[in-house]
Amino acid sequence: MRTDTGQVINLADYQPTEFVLERVDLTFELDPTETKVEARLIFHRREGVDPKAPLVLDGDELTLSGLLFDQMEMPADQYTATPESLTVRDLPASDPFELTITTIINPEANTKLMGLYRTGGIYCTQCEAEGFRRITYFLDRPDVLAPYTVNIIAEKAANPLLLSNGNFLGGAGYGEGKHFAAWFDPHPKPSYLFALVAGDLGVIEDSFTTMSGREVALKIYVEHGKEPRAAYAMDALKRSMKWDEEVFGREYDLDIFMIVAVSDFNMGAMENKGLNVFNDKYVLADPETATDSDYANIEAIIAHEYFHNWTGNRITCRDWFQLCLKEGLTVFRDHEFSADQRSRPVKRIAEVRHLKSEQFPEDAGPLAHPVRPTKYREINNFYTTTVYEKGSEVTRMIATLLGKETFKKGMDLYFDRHDGQAVTIEDFVKCFKDASGRDLTQFSLWYHQAGTPLVTASGSYDAAAKAFSLSLEQMIPATPGQSDKQPMHIPLNLQLFAEDGAAIAPTSVESAEYTGTILHLTERTQTAVFHGIQTRPVISINRSFSAPINLHFDQSPADLALLARHETDHFACWQALTDLALPNLLKAARDAREGNPVGCETTFVDSLVAAAADESLEPAFRAQALALPSEADIARELGGNNDPDAIHAGRQAVMKQVADAGRDTFAALYHSMTTPGTFSPDATSAGRRALRNAALTYLSYAENSPVRAKAAFDAANNMTDLLHALTLLAHRFPDSAEAAEALSTFRDRFSENALVIDKWFSVQATIPGGGTLDRVLKLMENPLFKRTNPNRVRSLVGTYAFANPTGFGRADGEGYRFLAREILDIDRRNPQLAARILTSMRSWRSLEPVRQDHARAALLEIERAAELSTDVRDIVERTLK
Ligand code: PHE
Ligand code: ZN
Repeated sequence: MRTDTGQVINLADYQPTEFVLERVDLTFELDPTETKVEARLIFHRREGVDPKAPLVLDGDELTLSGLLFDQMEMPADQYTATPESLTVRDLPASDPFELTITTIINPEANTKLMGLYRTGGIYCTQCEAEGFRRITYFLDRPDVLAPYTVNIIAEKAANPLLLSNGNFLGGAGYGEGKHFAAWFDPHPKPSYLFALVAGDLGVIEDSFTTMSGREVALKIYVEHGKEPRAAYAMDALKRSMKWDEEVFGREYDLDIFMIVAVSDFNMGAMENKGLNVFNDKYVLADPETATDSDYANIEAIIAHEYFHNWTGNRITCRDWFQLCLKEGLTVFRDHEFSADQRSRPVKRIAEVRHLKSEQFPEDAGPLAHPVRPTKYREINNFYTTTVYEKGSEVTRMIATLLGKETFKKGMDLYFDRHDGQAVTIEDFVKCFKDASGRDLTQFSLWYHQAGTPLVTASGSYDAAAKAFSLSLEQMIPATPGQSDKQPMHIPLNLQLFAEDGAAIAPTSVESAEYTGTILHLTERTQTAVFHGIQTRPVISINRSFSAPINLHFDQSPADLALLARHETDHFACWQALTDLALPNLLKAARDAREGNPVGCETTFVDSLVAAAADESLEPAFRAQALALPSEADIARELGGNNDPDAIHAGRQAVMKQVADAGRDTFAALYHSMTTPGTFSPDATSAGRRALRNAALTYLSYAENSPVRAKAAFDAANNMTDLLHALTLLAHRFPDSAEAAEALSTFRDRFSENALVIDKWFSVQATIPGGGTLDRVLKLMENPLFKRTNPNRVRSLVGTYAFANPTGFGRADGEGYRFLAREILDIDRRNPQLAARILTSMRSWRSLEPVRQDHARAALLEIERAAELSTDVRDIVERTLK
């Protein structure tokens, strides 16, 4: 268990350290259970601070085994060591001095996967956010930057590879079958970016010539035999390096860039300087085992970690409250990269879908917090979709407000002004203020006020005055700790259309700033008047999702159908189709709950089928349109007193009606949207597969039979098609012989490949209905399931809790009780993983009363447990509040 007390840390208490760290020299003598770490640290006392103040270093479960001061034994009365800290007294008033700290740590026993641990026979580190203090006593905070030298000594046969950050200095034999290697990282960095990897791995190598003509060696390390599966990651890396030079003017800064894929990892990947460590799920891919979305994720995450080199590493965070400084910005950069590599509107649709399904519920529930929080108990719990995805949206809004050119100027200023520093959100925003001359004070509320703003719009057309007025009102809901909210600066991309679908430009706009197509909503209520409008306009608001808001705007199905057909912004077309679908899905859920027959409005069905058949639209877009709002989306729109079974039944009935109406279209698409030739993961081919598979889904609803899906399963020659067919069989026809046969064929074929078996677990964990719990329990006994591996746990337990509303949300509460037991079990080994999976309970208050009571009881059971990590305690207490 964590030994800290879980005290609240406040942004307002920030103070720079009293001692300045000048250099770090680390020597590791690696051993699976007894690794010796010697840290030589050179400090001086910061000018002006109390000359008597002791030096207090952070630790976590450490034992001190030696302490030297300037190479002399430190007298015992001058220091105090506990597992959580090392306090050293009577230090010089100004001169630099050297402390040599020796600790002995046990990587094999480290199941939290923070600090130095073992995975698949290799040594690996994870130090963000506060893992370095599990290696040695240190000023373990992001504003303490120093150059590092790292010496690694290990048995040669088992560890031919000895890696750390920076450039390789040299290596040699070290007697008794051992060898050593030395690395030097000249770029001052905080401890969270430290990394060490040692073991025996395969490698693929390549190189990149930077824009100034420097040659960078690129290496991706994977388990032996898996080298061919790293080729796509390497390709994505080179494209990322090129893109960052072209779009942001950023060049790589070391002679070597390394990526290591490991199988036990708490998160997606980690941007350690020059030595990124990845969850192997985001490196390994080939057509037989990876889906199109796996490829897209690999591309995005490789880019994300690489982009951190400038946004995160060279310019880092002053403190962990500023996490969005690196994460929000870097997500924005990887989104832009993917948009440039693939289809921009399709990428935007996927981003917004993700934002709405993950971040909006967080912002609307008990775990809501500002993008830049002001307090935390456990920083691990703040790697949230609010910090990442909403943080990215806030950056995107700055770009929207300033325009492309000025945004670029602001970014360049940021890189120039703050390179080598640890800074704050205020420093970041100031660069855009200085570059644009625009006051961003009100805009900055996006960083400070939690909650998704609700914008209510209504329009009226005055034919005599040829004027259209649009009344807007914004409301920011109360969130934990924030009841009073100020109106925000909301950039709304907005366009008027004539009834024939042509875009209309007003002659003037009154009472609101309107630049390009951006309307600036800054007041609580505001009415904008558009002049020179000849006929009643149809208005499209929040195009491209220019602001992360909920929009209430009553538009007739006819107007929405017009936008779906004529909007030039394809994101907005998709939004119009979604707005057509939603009321039908909501009504269906209500009807299903009351036992009424479900019926859909024809404008919606016709528009959807027309979009599916529209050959002027790219296939990937059409596939997105056909993927109706999810059950979670419907639950969110309903807002409360939710019955997952009714939502599911209603949605199924709507699917069936669309399927029947569009049967011929879907059959035609299924036959035409093939991808002949050898498999290619490119976006166009992926789009064709997505549309064909969407058509297959509707066909199987229309035909009400597993036969076609089974044939698709048997014929599939890539993982995308195979997994789609498998999912369709298992979810739609779970009791059929076809589903059972496909599930066992799949397992037998891929039982050696854990990442594919994760898909097999997830497919089964998401089978709708109460019976799935028994399946999950049985699967947990399967030898292919490993409780200690985060990917396995997430794919089975996590997916069940996060992505199966009817299964997990069984009316008898057994799903919630199961989760409570599992959380307590996982927490003993890996608190971070347990806390994250527990956030699946964040929307429990929007359930109907019976399920709510069961959910509360399960949460209380966790809260009452005798031993709980700070991570889980923090989440469970906030969730219950
Ligand atoms: N900094 C990592 C990223 O987003 C995420 C991460 C956080 C990984 C904490 C491990 C631990 O790129
Ligand atoms: Zn990141």
